[in-house]
Amino acid sequence: MYSDKVMEHFMNPRNVGVIKDADGIGEVGNAQCGDIMRIFIKVKNNIIVDTKFMIFGCGSAVASSSMATEIIKGKTLEDAWKITNKTVADSLDGLPTIKMHCSVLAEEVIHAAINDYRVKQGMEPWISSLDSEMV
Ligand code: FES
Repeated sequence: MYSDKVMEHFMNPRNVGVIKDADGIGEVGNAQCGDIMRIFIKVKNNIIVDTKFMIFGCGSAVASSSMATEIIKGKTLEDAWKITNKTVADSLDGLPTIKMHCSVLAEEVIHAAINDYRVKQGMEPWISSLDSEMV
């Protein structure tokens, strides 16, 4: 049911923890399953130089967060913003259909952290295409 990569990131998640002096913090939750994801980013010269995450969630959400932090580290804010849940799920060699929403949380939390950073810098938040899908 789960790929080896999902299992590996679940058993050995990367970048778990808190960045105390984070430049941006994102937190999102899924009301239906109750899972909550929080991500911290450190930004230098428009590049995400460090990131960590905390989670209260399922194994797929742990693996998605872990993979998301691995993907965005070293990326510009623009490139990190373009990461979709499909990118995260594909990087994990797929997720079961009923677990795809776990990777959506990862996309949302990246956007939330980037926009937190932008607002703290006095910039307008970017509009996420996911916003229109939320109710
Ligand atoms: Fe909801 Fe995984 S079951 S995030």
